[in-house]
Amino acid sequence: MNFSYSNKTQIQFGEDSIATVNTLIPTDKKILVIYGGGSIKKNGVYDQVCTALKDHAWVEFSGVEPNPTVETLDKAVTLARDEKIDFILAVGGGSVIDGSKYVAASIGYDGDGWDILTGDHQVTDAIPLGAILTLPATGSESNAGAVITKKTTQDKLAFMDPKVLPVFAVLDPNVIKTLPERQLINGIVDAFVHVCEQYITVKTDAWVQEGYAEVLLRNLVKLAESYDQRDSSEWRSNLMWTANQALNGLIGTGGPQDWATHMIGHELTAHYGVDHARTLALVQPSLLRNQLAVKKDKLEQMGTNVFGLPKSDTLALDAIDAIESLYNALGVATHLKDADINADEAIPAIIRSLEKHGGVALGEHQAITLDVTKAILKSAA
Ligand code: NZQ
Ligand code: ZN
Repeated sequence: MNFSYSNKTQIQFGEDSIATVNTLIPTDKKILVIYGGGSIKKNGVYDQVCTALKDHAWVEFSGVEPNPTVETLDKAVTLARDEKIDFILAVGGGSVIDGSKYVAASIGYDGDGWDILTGDHQVTDAIPLGAILTLPATGSESNAGAVITKKTTQDKLAFMDPKVLPVFAVLDPNVIKTLPERQLINGIVDAFVHVCEQYITVKTDAWVQEGYAEVLLRNLVKLAESYDQRDSSEWRSNLMWTANQALNGLIGTGGPQDWATHMIGHELTAHYGVDHARTLALVQPSLLRNQLAVKKDKLEQMGTNVFGLPKSDTLALDAIDAIESLYNALGVATHLKDADINADEAIPAIIRSLEKHGGVALGEHQAITLDVTKAILKSAA
């Protein structure tokens, strides 16, 4: 358990916290407000941003799409350069925040911004950004990661750099009142899989990380089971805080991590446009069954400590069944055919893309080769 840990994002949590943006960005900064397809104009968030920024100079860029594309974001980079922007305020879900990180890191780079995703360019500097979160799911509001798509080539790649860690994140649970149910459910599933990717590996000596991961998983099970309470402030607040904590770096410190489900899932989104969280549910139960031998101890621990299952010879498998039932009870599919994906066509395409992106040895033991992924996707058909 050796690690160096820091998370410097200031969290502003609670109702009406958007107003605090006024004091969080120095007034000598010129701000680019980046947002998505316009949900913030319908739910009052845009108006709150305008009020909070009444003493600031700012311009806006809208139209960042779900699974943000470099084709759209490069237009924001051009605007930011023309307007001599020195602060970015991202207002939206993971897509807007990830896209804003790309813009922040690309502004000072003369080459093709996509180089950041391929690893051909290491980020040297980035302009500071803050985030107003409108969809609890990804944890992007206080982590250093971003996932960007190149539409023309169907590539969906990630980069991580501490220079794009948001300086602040505003989490007002009221803003998720207008989320479509599909997105609310996506948030539960994505956050759940984030914890799993950092927890269902091998047994470790990290009591804090394992124990906290179990608290977060139990919260997410409770949120799913009390889904009919989703209009309560308690439910919304706990989803927002739990999803944030699931991927802010803490539970993953000092131990092995998996992320194979995410790597395979990103390819499914790139090829079929399936929502990020939904791809994870399509892959994860089959992946866990495939990897049972190496993940058995942790699955048994999860079965006991998260789902309260009785001890038995099948405890690890029972835990996987419980995970799959959790998704299915929320109406989330766990087989490709239920997401209208033809496995015979999809598998070769996904395998080709994984190979192209270097996803040839995934998982905490780098043992999920392309052949193993093929077997996982076959059983997910
Ligand atoms: O575009 P707008 O109009 O804002 O509408 C969005 C979008 O259509 C809507 N929405 C967001 N907040 C709303 C709202 N509608 C009504 N009321 C609100 N309060 O929801 C739709 C989906 O938004 P999006 O940002 O795409 O969803 P999410 O937060 O799930 O982000 C998904 C993206 O994040 C990446 C995914 O790959 C995907 O590209 N991820 C980022 C990670 C990270 N940075 O750490 C980790 C994750 O594993 C994930 O890969
Ligand atoms: Zn995710």
